[in-house]
Amino acid sequence: MSTSSSSAAERDRKRELLQKFFIVLILSLICFSLFFLNYHEKNKYIIKTLEINGSAKEGYALFKVNCVGCHGITARGLVGPDLHSITQRLNDKEIIKQVTGGLTPPMPSFEIDPVNMSNLLKYLHSLE
Ligand code: HEC
Repeated sequence: MSTSSSSAAERDRKRELLQKFFIVLILSLICFSLFFLNYHEKNKYIIKTLEINGSAKEGYALFKVNCVGCHGITARGLVGPDLHSITQRLNDKEIIKQVTGGLTPPMPSFEIDPVNMSNLLKYLHSLE
C-alpha cells in the first residue's frame, strides 16, 4: 500500500515537472518567434529603403524639421556630431539603424517610412 501511494506521488511529481518543462518550452518558443519576426521586419524595412532612390531636397526638408535642433542647420553639429562625410564612415544600413534604433541617447529613435528614410539618406550623401 505504502509503495503504491509513494509511486503515485512520484508520478504526480513527474507530471508536474513535465508540465513546467512544457510551459518553459512554449514561452521560449514565443520569445524566439517574436524576436525573429521583429528582426525580419527590420530587415524588410532596410531592404525597402535601400531600393528607393530618394530626393536630397525632400530629405533636407525632413532634416530641418527633425534633426537641426541637435545637428545644426547646416549639419555641422551642435549637441549631436557634424554629419558631413558621415556616409564615408557609416554605410547606409548603419545610418538607418542610427536613425530608427534609438540606441545612442539623447538621440531619439525616429519612426520614419522607407521613402522619407531614403530621402534623408540622399541628403546625408549630398553632404560629402
Ligand atoms: C536630441 C538630439 C538629436 C536629434 C533630434 C537627432 N540627433 Fe542624431 N545624434 C545625436 C547625438 C547626441 C549623436 C551622437 C550619438 C553617439 O554616438 O553617442 C547623434 C548621432 C547621429 C548620427 C551618427 C553620427 C556619427 O558620427 O556616428 C547620425 C547619422 C545622426 N545622428 C543622424 C540624425 C538624423 C538624420 C536626425 C533626424 C532624423 C537626428 N540625428 C536627430 C543627437 C540627435
